Amino acid sequence: MKSQENLGKHDKMQKVSDELLDFRASPLFEYRTDNKYFPVIGEGSIDAKILFVGEAPGKTEAMTGKPFCGAAGKFLSVLLESIGLTREQVYITNIVKDRPPENRDPTPEEIALYSPFLDMQVQIIRPKVIVTLGRHSMGYVLPRYDLDSELDAISKIHGKTFETVYFDETNTPQPVTVVTLYHPAAALYNGGMRDTLKKDFEVLKKWLVSEVEPY
Ligand code: URA
Repeated sequence: MKSQENLGKHDKMQKVSDELLDFRASPLFEYRTDNKYFPVIGEGSIDAKILFVGEAPGKTEAMTGKPFCGAAGKFLSVLLESIGLTREQVYITNIVKDRPPENRDPTPEEIALYSPFLDMQVQIIRPKVIVTLGRHSMGYVLPRYDLDSELDAISKIHGKTFETVYFDETNTPQPVTVVTLYHPAAALYNGGMRDTLKKDFEVLKKWLVSEVEPY
């Protein structure tokens, strides 16, 4: 039963991946192909309880097709290890799946264009927790899941948890917690921010131990 369900999930994620590979509607498609870059779909467990959502791939990510594998990604791995998790136990993705030129911020149009893929990934993975990394991810996810009224400066709401629902493929509301964190890149040259992120990460520990479903 479980394996059939998983096969379905893998097939659905493959469909997301296939669509992104051929996403000619994106203004970033030509830049990707000209540079022989890859789209970065996401990586980790398709059954993860915790889904991390970053901003957009940087150069290292676009060259490998893997999310968060540069300097910020190394720190993300350290943060995960600090609460006893590996990257294989969670799912890591971005809102925008192609690299914007010169690492510029994704535009609102790019976020609008790519966000349906993230919405589909939420429905496929069915996470208990969506962790936003940085203000772009937070700025999309909070309003998307009916938390517009909670939107504030990231300096005010980092490390907070918000209860909401997402609608699954049968349009049934499913409870999910959104956790808003700083982007790990913000901590690269700032020791104070590193400590803040480490402390904020601790909030995720409560999903690691569950009597019903241990991680
Ligand atoms: N920054 C992001 O937001 N995502 C990545 O995958 C890498 C760096």
